[in-house]
Amino acid sequence: MADRYLSFTGTAPGRLLTRRLGLPQPARLRRWSAEQPTLQGRLLHLTAGKSDLDLAPVLALAGLDLDLVPAGSALDLGTENPVAVVLDATGVRDVDSLAEVHAALHPVVRSVAGSGRIVVLGSPPDPADHHQAAVQQGLEGFVRSLGKEIGQGRTVNLVRLTDARAAESTFRFLLSPRSAYVSGQVIEVGDGAGAGAGGTGAPVDWGRPLAGRTALVTGAARGIGEAVAATLARDGARVVCLDVPAAGADLDAVAARLGGVALALDITADDAGARIADALPEGLDVLVHNAGITRDRRLVNMPAERWSPVLDVNLASVLRTTDVLLSGGTLRPGGRVVATASIAGLAGNAGQTNYAASKAGIVGLVRSLGPRALSEYGVTVNAVAPGFIETRMTAAVPLFIREAGRRMNSLAQGGLPVDVAETTAWFASPGSGAVNGQVVRVCGQSLLGA
Ligand code: NAI
Repeated sequence: MADRYLSFTGTAPGRLLTRRLGLPQPARLRRWSAEQPTLQGRLLHLTAGKSDLDLAPVLALAGLDLDLVPAGSALDLGTENPVAVVLDATGVRDVDSLAEVHAALHPVVRSVAGSGRIVVLGSPPDPADHHQAAVQQGLEGFVRSLGKEIGQGRTVNLVRLTDARAAESTFRFLLSPRSAYVSGQVIEVGDGAGAGAGGTGAPVDWGRPLAGRTALVTGAARGIGEAVAATLARDGARVVCLDVPAAGADLDAVAARLGGVALALDITADDAGARIADALPEGLDVLVHNAGITRDRRLVNMPAERWSPVLDVNLASVLRTTDVLLSGGTLRPGGRVVATASIAGLAGNAGQTNYAASKAGIVGLVRSLGPRALSEYGVTVNAVAPGFIETRMTAAVPLFIREAGRRMNSLAQGGLPVDVAETTAWFASPGSGAVNGQVVRVCGQSLLGA
């Protein structure tokens, strides 16, 4: 179901009318395209507090296609609007230096271009220094609030890091059109130690980071899974598209279009992990658990027949197949597991006790398994948590609930399957070995569970 309101507000009369009535003003988001794969313009580097981070070489990356305006240089904000701002606040240790965050961004924020990016860098809160921990946590509130007020398709995210080089893939994602629907997020990037083969080392080719790698996507016959398979194929992966046998025709068409392989298999089958391993004797690099179902009912009206399948597809099969493919060695060192949570799993949702339990379970899985899988197998484990994404699943939602779901986020619109796919591709990149155990919402900063 197309978002007609978004189309309407894109016209001059629509803009005028909705502004007069005080209605939401969603901006048309700039997403990745082969013609315009990167943001173009100025990248303003600012600092608050005394930073030890060696950021300049990472920000000067040619791949970003941005003109770096280094920290300390003057910019005429009347004529030289930045399209991206990176504020290094890693050295903020007390309330006085937190004021430098305000001082740095206050004069700049108005001039950031539409669909521009603000990335604030923080340090992990220090358990031995409650002043530092307080103000570093303060950055979270700052970023989430700025994301809610900035408008015009601009996004604001916080990255906590200790090593700028380990965060290169994250900069390339957040400072690009690929992250159009990711805002108000806090992302922790480790130092990359134990990241396994291809951990923090630059991939051979950032344009096709998954070249030579094999990716398996469950639920790939349609919706978000189809977009994930297409995006990983764009990035060079050989894709194995898995879906239930009943979706066989669609699945075959998707696999053929992407030059991949179709694997018709119900992921809840007891031997699903073994059958995937058999189909991939040469190994697997990227495992995307995307298949998911809903069977909504309030708990009082929910028989066990509506509970069990949701937990089985969304959580139990994810646990089972991950275990088999990790312990059996199908997932190679440097491998990536990306699971699919949901904002309903973070916030809870009436009528979805089963679904939210399964999706919150994914969060628990990622946080627990991530660190262990990295040290034992050299494999990272992360999750995307989509908000309202325009798919058949959400097209079936009743009109008023659907309209509320679309608008109740900072970008005032639903996301597209490709937005989830781009976030998955960032996790899947060989350069993302230091991104582990993270749950990143792809929700336009939805009010649900914020
Ligand atoms: P969809 O219903 O359009 O596609 C799901 C796919 O999974 C289908 O092709 C289906 O055949 C497949 N599938 C279901 N059970 C399976 C099984 N037992 N074995 C193999 N494949 C199976 O759903 P959509 O919207 O693309 O969602 C994809 C994922 O994103 C799901 O995990 C969903 O919970 C999650 N999600 C979606 C949101 C949205 O707004 N669309 C919001 C939050 C999360």
